[in-house]
Amino acid sequence: MSRRTETVLEGERLTKYFGGLPALKDVSFAVAKGEILGLIGPNGAGKSTLLNLVNGIFGPTEGRVVFQGRDLSGLMPHEIAQRGIARVLQTPRSFASMTVRENVAIGASFGGRGRSDRASPDRDGIEFYLDLAGLLDKKDLPVDGLTLQEKRMLELARALAMRPELLLLDEAMSGLNPTEMERAMRLIRRIRDDLGLTIIWVEHVMKAIMGVAERVLVLNFGQLIAVGTPAEVARDQGVIDAYLGRAE
Ligand SMILES: Nc1ncnc2c1ncn2[C@@H]1O[C@H](COP(=O)(O)OP(=O)(O)OP(=O)(O)O)[C@@H](O)[C@H]1O
Ligand SMILES: [Mg+2]
Repeated sequence: MSRRTETVLEGERLTKYFGGLPALKDVSFAVAKGEILGLIGPNGAGKSTLLNLVNGIFGPTEGRVVFQGRDLSGLMPHEIAQRGIARVLQTPRSFASMTVRENVAIGASFGGRGRSDRASPDRDGIEFYLDLAGLLDKKDLPVDGLTLQEKRMLELARALAMRPELLLLDEAMSGLNPTEMERAMRLIRRIRDDLGLTIIWVEHVMKAIMGVAERVLVLNFGQLIAVGTPAEVARDQGVIDAYLGRAE
């Protein structure tokens, strides 16, 4: 018997205008459960806008987002988070005066019901997420004392402690050196493999996306110009002209 692919998230003809200008135009896509989907494109292409529509920061001008078969239209960001979508922002926004552990505990307290059906004692523990993010030995330090890289890992640990079903990463790994990026790539794979999450990853470092994502969406001027495996989009002439030709 063939394994059925379950769709976790669908964007249906998503359009977003800011003033008179379209940031996203008629973009449709589906994300399979357990998939790592890369989202790439030049600056201003609409990548963050797409994530903002998924987690309810903005409502779409047209179209809708469906998560686990339910229309998210009209829901507030915290309601969407509770349904199991967590977002890691590019700029860490931790509570600086609190300890690392306390910050992750906040994530856990906002925890969604999304994954409660498969909660295990280990995975519910704050320390499990601290360990995953490599922060266990820093757990009692104030966040002030962390490096930028560690703050990024803390954001990730906090998002994971919410026990989401879907994780949205918006350049959450930017500014890492090659060794740190290798580690981050392994971590993202592990999050999917061990925790069973579905991940949408926006990232400009092509090597990272190409090495981790199973499928890649390419946006340019708010339009979806290609969808495919990393190898397929890498040889797509439209993608090369719009983006890859000038990357690195
Ligand atoms: N809140 C906003 N108000 C007005 N315009 C916005 C807003 N957010 C995004 N835009 C515009 O929408 C377009 C898409 O921006 P978006 O941030 O989604 O791009 P991006 O692909 O994430 O780019 P980058 O790689 O630089 O992060 C841009 O022209 C941007 O100026
Ligand atoms: Mg962006």
